[in-house]
Amino acid sequence: MQATRLLASRAPNRLSGSIRVPGDKSISHRALMLGALAVGETRISGLLEGEDVLRTAAAMRALGAEIIRDQEGTWHIAGRGIGGLAEPDDVLDMGNSGTAARLLCGILASHPLFAVMTGDASLRRRPMGRVIEPLTQCGARLASRMGGRLPLAVEGPRQALPLDYRLPVPSAQVKSAVLLAGLNARGETRVEEPAPTRDHTENMLRHFGAHIHVEPAEGGRVITLTGQPELSPTDLTVPGDPSSAAFPIVGSLLVPGSEIRIEGVGLNPLRTGLFATLREMGADLAVARQWIEAGELVGDLTIRHSALKGIDVAAARAPTMIDEYPILAVAAAAAAGLTRMRGLAELRVKESDRLAAAASMLSANGVRVDIEGDDLIVHGSGHPPRGGGTVVTHMDHRLAMSGLVLGLATEQPVVVDDTSFIDTSFPGFVALMASIGANFRPA
Ligand code: S3P
Repeated sequence: MQATRLLASRAPNRLSGSIRVPGDKSISHRALMLGALAVGETRISGLLEGEDVLRTAAAMRALGAEIIRDQEGTWHIAGRGIGGLAEPDDVLDMGNSGTAARLLCGILASHPLFAVMTGDASLRRRPMGRVIEPLTQCGARLASRMGGRLPLAVEGPRQALPLDYRLPVPSAQVKSAVLLAGLNARGETRVEEPAPTRDHTENMLRHFGAHIHVEPAEGGRVITLTGQPELSPTDLTVPGDPSSAAFPIVGSLLVPGSEIRIEGVGLNPLRTGLFATLREMGADLAVARQWIEAGELVGDLTIRHSALKGIDVAAARAPTMIDEYPILAVAAAAAAGLTRMRGLAELRVKESDRLAAAASMLSANGVRVDIEGDDLIVHGSGHPPRGGGTVVTHMDHRLAMSGLVLGLATEQPVVVDDTSFIDTSFPGFVALMASIGANFRPA
């Protein structure tokens, strides 16, 4: 990670052009993990080469998979097969990535080996109890610091038992940890989620040939996986990350005269809550063309500057846009009227406490914000916010990018205290935004 840098962003004339955003982070982690569990060579193009995903690649190598990147940027994985992972001879460092840590815990829990996992200061503060609890049911022993924090040690049983688990919170990471553990358990693993969460693990397991069954249940879903399949290696292309596309999208909506196109963005309906919400606020955001790739919906987007209005965002939408609230809060700050975003308890346990940090980002820049229980309320005036403040990012990539986009729409420049973490999910963000006209420079 580079040393702390300071960047101010200032309103440009307009944003315009055609871009691609880096590969989807969630799908990239899963592609590397399942590739390592297949028998034979998997090839991945469009893999996100951000810090978080590189940690997963390093961890899967430490577990015995051969992973190389060729000169064209395609990643080749020689998988070890389910049950075939080797014991790592050192601590696995998952950096800033909660997804990498939680999903890998699932894989490790059903392999008869001992492994220790740690992460950076942000990840070491995040709760792992939510995966420790279900994973012990397969016979694994997991020990962590107080409060279920990393570092954590896992010792898998000789023969893992299948799991049957109802998620207490809608979390794709916990669901995925349980399903990945179930891969090396004899029999059927069953997981029930109270509300549908991103289903990339299910889609990709199917793509690698696993038998997986999904049915609706009480507002959510029940997913059943048949254990110990032989995963077949495959070729896949990772779509652009809709959570990354969110930043140029909101920038273009807020800067007058803007019109941009973003090609090849993942449009899985369990990821596109932000797009629906922005449209309800009055955004001109259209899908030009769409297709399916490796079981995932993908499309090209066009976005034009739009006058936004404040709205009420129901808690039920949270699982489909959980990472997008900081940037939605920026859109709400420039919208006319009040936006209430309901049911954001999960934001408190992300890379930072995003509920508090998003509120501070806006209030430091002249926007009135309230937090009531788990709701975030932004009072938009319909005019450019004042700006002139410093955004404190707390090692959180999405806060850094949200702060920079906020500065595109404010009267005075916005300073972001640390942009180094942007590389965890969006390497090249500053240059890509500059290519469509954004003006970011050292503060
Ligand atoms: C992710 C799931 C989400 C999301 C994270 C990526 C995934 O977390 O915030 O950035 O890839 O499964 P939760 O499922 O814990 O809400």
